[in-house]
Parts: sequence; C-alpha cells; structure tokens
Amino acid sequence: MSRVVVTGRVPDAAIEKLRAEHEVNAWTAPESIGREELLRRVAGADAVVSLLTERIDGELLDAAGPQLKVVANVAVGYDNIDVPACTQRGVVATNTPGVLTDATADIAMGLVLMATRRLGEGERLIRSGQAWKWGMFFLLGSSLQGKTLGVVGMGGIGQATARRAKAFGMEIVYQSRSELDPGIAADLGARRLDLDELLAVSDVVSLHCPYGPATHHLIGAEQLTAMKSSAYLVNTARGPIVDEAALASALREGQIAGAGLDVYEHEPRVHPALLELENVVLLPHLGSATVETRTAMAMLAADNTLAVLGGARPPAPIN
Ligand code: GLV
Repeated sequence: MSRVVVTGRVPDAAIEKLRAEHEVNAWTAPESIGREELLRRVAGADAVVSLLTERIDGELLDAAGPQLKVVANVAVGYDNIDVPACTQRGVVATNTPGVLTDATADIAMGLVLMATRRLGEGERLIRSGQAWKWGMFFLLGSSLQGKTLGVVGMGGIGQATARRAKAFGMEIVYQSRSELDPGIAADLGARRLDLDELLAVSDVVSLHCPYGPATHHLIGAEQLTAMKSSAYLVNTARGPIVDEAALASALREGQIAGAGLDVYEHEPRVHPALLELENVVLLPHLGSATVETRTAMAMLAADNTLAVLGGARPPAPIN
C-alpha cells in the first residue's frame, strides 16, 4: 500500500478509487492548503495529486522525499509544476487532457458571445436598478456571422472552440506550432497563419496555447496594437499569456473593442484597471467547472496515479 497525498478537495469518486488500493491523505477544507502545511503533509508520500493552485517545485519534491513516484495534476495546464525538477528526481508528472476540452471550449464561446453582444454590460445595467427600455441603438454589439476567429494554439480546446465558432458562421484562422491534420483543417475550413497575420485579420482572437516562458506576454502592447480596433480578445488559457496592464490600456483607449477573460496574470487578483472597464467580461476561472468535467478530471488523475504506483505507464504522462 502506498501513501497518496491529495492537495485539495476533489470529487469523492476519485478519492474512493484511490482509497480502494492505497492510504489517502486528502486536504478537505474549503480554503486552499497553505504552503507550510502542504510541505509537511507531502513528507513520505509516494504520490501527490495536485490542484493547479499548488506550486509543485524542487522544494516540494524534496520535502516529499526520494520515494515519491508521481505528481498527478488535476488540470490540463501544468505551469504550476516544475517538470524538469520532476524528471531530474525520477518523478512522473501527469495531467488531464481531453476530458475538459468541451467544457473549456463552451466557456470560450460563452465569452465570445458575452463580449461581442455586451451581455455583461446588460446584466450589470439591469441589476443596477437603472431605468432602461428597448431602443434601436441600445447596447448594440457586433455580429459573429461572416467574421473571423483567430485561434492561438490549435490543440484540442482550440479545435473545439473553432468548431463552435464555425457553427456560429465564423471563418477560422489559427496559429499553432504544428500544422493541423488536413482532414480537420478542411472540415473547419481553417487556415494556418503567423501570429502577426492572425492578429491583423481576426475579429475575435481566442487564446488556447499552454503557458510557459515561450508564451509569457505573447499578447502585449505591440500585439494589441496589431489587432483591429473592432476586434475582441478572449483568454481561457492562462493569465500571464496576456500583459494585463497593456490589455487594460488597449481596452480603455479603444485600441480593441473588448475582451473576455477567464484567467488572470496574477490569479486570483484581477488588474484593478480591468475592473473599471465596461468592455471586458471577467469570469473566475470556470473553464472546466462542470460537475461532469471535474469528476472526469479527478478520475483521470486517479487513474494516472494508480498506473504509476502499479508500475505501469500512466494514461496522460507529461514527462
Ligand atoms: C484548468 O485551467 C486546467 O488547466 O485544467
């Protein structure tokens, strides 16, 4: 029997699955585990099931000890994990791709609609108690039909967002490290462009690339200036891909028309300048937040953990 530490609350089904084979020590309080408590708890663990709010670095891996075999992130993004530090210590790192693709693409499309149709503004107006009535020019937004969606990062979530946008009548362009499978590209009618070209032609730019040194502030002042003044930016990937101060200034100055964000550069803090603006929709990192998706993510993390502890290759290894 191995010792599994779970760093935050996850659906019961996953805990039960782990508990059927191993000793499980799970943090169950609603607030996040503090760093000191986390370092204390992981000591002697064979497996750590981590949430994206916990930093898994060399210090934590050393606090766990040399018996640690696997870190199973309950997220597809793994910028919270120092993967080279895991590899150096012979620790397998895993994530949860696939199971959250549709839920996250739904939120991306939701943000596209909210931003372009000014739904947040309308909701805030009603709740403010201000008088309003239907008017020919009241809260006019921008239509999607015939417009171009630029997808930055054409992995599973980017493709799923493109499929939704196509159903709304949008044309698809994308920027990605690799060329799409020709069948999928033909199906979506998607053209691959450089980032500069994509920014210049897109009416909505949606970010779906992983976060790392190569994508830090991928969208900054220069890129925002390259976008159309009528365009919108949507980010459901990771906050620091966007220079938030530059975004706030571009939104304030009308360099772009609007934005929809689910993630933040210094999460959970939101740049105060964004809070002042009407032309940005702000969601609290809800990309994968459905009961079904979170359950599937936790079950995949449990499967990853059980596989490594059982001496097998996990279903979703990172390293
Ligand atoms: C959520 O942000 C994830 O990476 O799974």
